[in-house]
Amino acid sequence: MDHFQHKDGVLHVEGVSAEVIAATVGTPVYLYSRATLERHAQVFRDALANVPRTHVAYAVKANPNLAVLRVLAKAGYGADVVSGGEMARAVAAGMAPGDIVFSGVGKTRDELLQGLETGIGQFNLELEEEGHVLAALAAERGLTAPAVLRVNPDVDAGTHAKITTGRAGNKFGVAIDEAPGIFARLEGKPGIALRGLAVHIGSQLGDLAPLEAAYVRVGEMVRTLRAAGHPITHVDLGGGLGVPYRPGETMPSPAAFGEMVARVTAGWDVTLMFEPGRVIAGNAGVLLTRVVWVKPTPGGDPWVIVDAAMNDLARPALYDAWHDFVAVRPTGERIVANIAGPVCESGDTFARSREIDAVAAGDLAVFRTAGAYGATMASTYNSRARVPEVLVDGDRYAIVSDRIDPAQQMAGERVPDWL
Ligand code: LLP
Repeated sequence: MDHFQHKDGVLHVEGVSAEVIAATVGTPVYLYSRATLERHAQVFRDALANVPRTHVAYAVKANPNLAVLRVLAKAGYGADVVSGGEMARAVAAGMAPGDIVFSGVGKTRDELLQGLETGIGQFNLELEEEGHVLAALAAERGLTAPAVLRVNPDVDAGTHAKITTGRAGNKFGVAIDEAPGIFARLEGKPGIALRGLAVHIGSQLGDLAPLEAAYVRVGEMVRTLRAAGHPITHVDLGGGLGVPYRPGETMPSPAAFGEMVARVTAGWDVTLMFEPGRVIAGNAGVLLTRVVWVKPTPGGDPWVIVDAAMNDLARPALYDAWHDFVAVRPTGERIVANIAGPVCESGDTFARSREIDAVAAGDLAVFRTAGAYGATMASTYNSRARVPEVLVDGDRYAIVSDRIDPAQQMAGERVPDWL
């Protein structure tokens, strides 16, 4: 069920009116639905019911808010982290260290050490040298780091170039053919237990075929490695499932994904790990904003200028992403308009010539599907406030991340006394 619905003509998140939150917290503000996060977590888990041994690690990068992580920790999810900061968040939110997977192409020695000291469950190696460094750090401390090797299967994920990760020219993983050599050189080294493979070919995937092609290649490599005598017990299949952003857009369902996984991985006899991000958080959040002006353009579409901007929701500017724009109190009237924020560059445009609910200055509206890669990618460009976040649970809500206003930002800056 959709927990972002109009009731008595006013958009609600679960049982809370968006108008009430705007009045108490102000705008722009991200609003998340706990029930939606929990439902998505359950749907993804149910989709894997026919896969024998699974471990689901939520991709923290999608939405790292502590309260969101706590909801997912309570749902039994582990975490896929890509920095020491995300690792600290996952632990602070109550995720068991053993359920944390550490991905990322540029882990520093300090971060590897943090992972060892935290006792995380798995390091996903992105290159051979990382394995040698990790082994040395672990061995010095009398530890053994569980690790898998991320391979690049060279398949085209068919998504936006900036979020494609599994092509030969991308910076991620090692060419899949290099895996046997790397396993041979890391095998038996004190400090590391290389136990499998990882793959992640991209994000917002609208087609299961490239994923299937990648998994088939990984399956072949599992057999090759086993034939060479390497014990393979874990394979991390990454994340990447797309979500619908536009009305009528269809995406492969988690159930279809689960069926494909069960079919392709039958007989692998490993623990399969998953790193879903967007499919959990994307449609669990909206960005609430207020219209500042509606600016007429002679001979063209009017500009709806809202108080949210590219610094709050970067996806349209970065990836030409579509986020539905819905009035909090729609009148039924529709207009064709451009939608933009106040930031001083033309890239700060959310939509062009789009048919939307008719809005006037002072009206509230939301950008939908903003729960993933929204607040976490926000900045303070143009000295705007860092956008706050609210979590709704039934008929209660809480501010789960404060608005950081320019005065607070300046408090962290210094003018040297020699100026
Ligand atoms: N695992 C790895 C290794 C990843 O790199 C990613 C995403 C995920 C899992 C989670 O993927 P998901 O299930 O969310 O598709 N900022 C971009 C998305 C970047 C995704 C980066 N990696 C956007 O707003 O579309």
